[in-house]
Amino acid sequence: MNPDVWARFLSDGSFRKRKAYRYRAVDGARVKTFFDSSESDDELRLRLEERIARAANADHAVVTGSGLQAFSLVSKALVQRAQREIALQAYTCRQLAPLAREAGLRVRLLDVDLSTGNVSSGAFVAQKGRAYHAIHSFGNPLDLEDLASIAKRGTTVVEDCAHALGARFHGRPVGGVGWASIFSFRKNLSAGSGGALTTSDAKLAAFARATRGNANPSDTRGAWGKRALAWKMRRPSDAWPYALYSRYEYSRSEFDVFLPSRLDTAITLDQLGRVDEINAQNRSNAAELETLLGGAVSAVVPLPDCESACTRYGFVFARADAAKAFLRQASDAGFETGMHYADDFLQNVRVAGSNPEHFPNSVQASARLVPVGLSGLSEGDLRWLADRARTVGTVGN
Ligand SMILES: Cc1ncc(COP(=O)(O)O)c(C=O)c1O
Repeated sequence: MNPDVWARFLSDGSFRKRKAYRYRAVDGARVKTFFDSSESDDELRLRLEERIARAANADHAVVTGSGLQAFSLVSKALVQRAQREIALQAYTCRQLAPLAREAGLRVRLLDVDLSTGNVSSGAFVAQKGRAYHAIHSFGNPLDLEDLASIAKRGTTVVEDCAHALGARFHGRPVGGVGWASIFSFRKNLSAGSGGALTTSDAKLAAFARATRGNANPSDTRGAWGKRALAWKMRRPSDAWPYALYSRYEYSRSEFDVFLPSRLDTAITLDQLGRVDEINAQNRSNAAELETLLGGAVSAVVPLPDCESACTRYGFVFARADAAKAFLRQASDAGFETGMHYADDFLQNVRVAGSNPEHFPNSVQASARLVPVGLSGLSEGDLRWLADRARTVGTVGN
């Protein structure tokens, strides 16, 4: 395969409708060197595990099919440690509470702070006797010093770095504070699948490795994979090959036992080496958006003195109907908006056996906050987003 063709395909914006604009951030030639290397799938994955463990400052990393699979494994391991309850934020991904409950944990939800998108320190410091699942939402790190202090006082902390790979709080990277951390390769990195858990507890690592399932996509370099890649390169703007690609990548489910494909492993390896650069670009996109918005629409902001991964820009509209209109328009235009809808929050509340009224900020976040992916956006994309947000945000105010 010709690396130039790869690079052209991977940076082709015409895939945008199918969210492949994220691939603009991929270095096609480098991905190809990993993909075509003589290492087996297992060896390549082990290489990735070493890199992830180093990034999280942990002794072990275990690659999984998705971030959710990593969370599910950690939840099961918590039950084995006789942990009965987990606290997690209410406004987040819809599968977290169901997976924790399925593992046998009682779920207690915490409200978010609308200005940061995270649970505020005061709320999580109060957690006692239950595990605390700490989410660095949208790539914005929580206060790691507070987190470390509750871990020291005996709370089992699980850091959710799904949005925040490479983010730092006061210079300290996320992922190294708690008993375990989970990662996803499809948020600030551009792989279509894959995640990991990291830990310095050898028992947890062994448990995760033994139970994650070890099925490789059977056709990593076989018929489907080869055909998908060939189509991708030849006709980058055609919709059909993407369907083929999706099939090759298998239909994604957090419960599946497939490890990430060779292509996704190669993309993740390439991007891990450049995660600081990717996050810096996201931060610069966020700063540019803020300038373009000029205060017409507010946004979720990271705590001071931290380097956020800025995986998402959280537009906060004054009115729910404006947020809804903006979400629809941005999604129709192909921007990445698939994160934390009102349904997600309600599902978590239902599973926890709680009442939405106990989480007023999460209710507001579900109605008025629209997170949009920042990776790979061009100057024109940023202007489009700011114009749309200003227009819908000011109508009827
Ligand atoms: C906070 C959080 N944790 C974990 C995940 C799961 O990651 P993955 O998509 O790799 O399963 C998500 C996905 O949206 C998420 O938002």
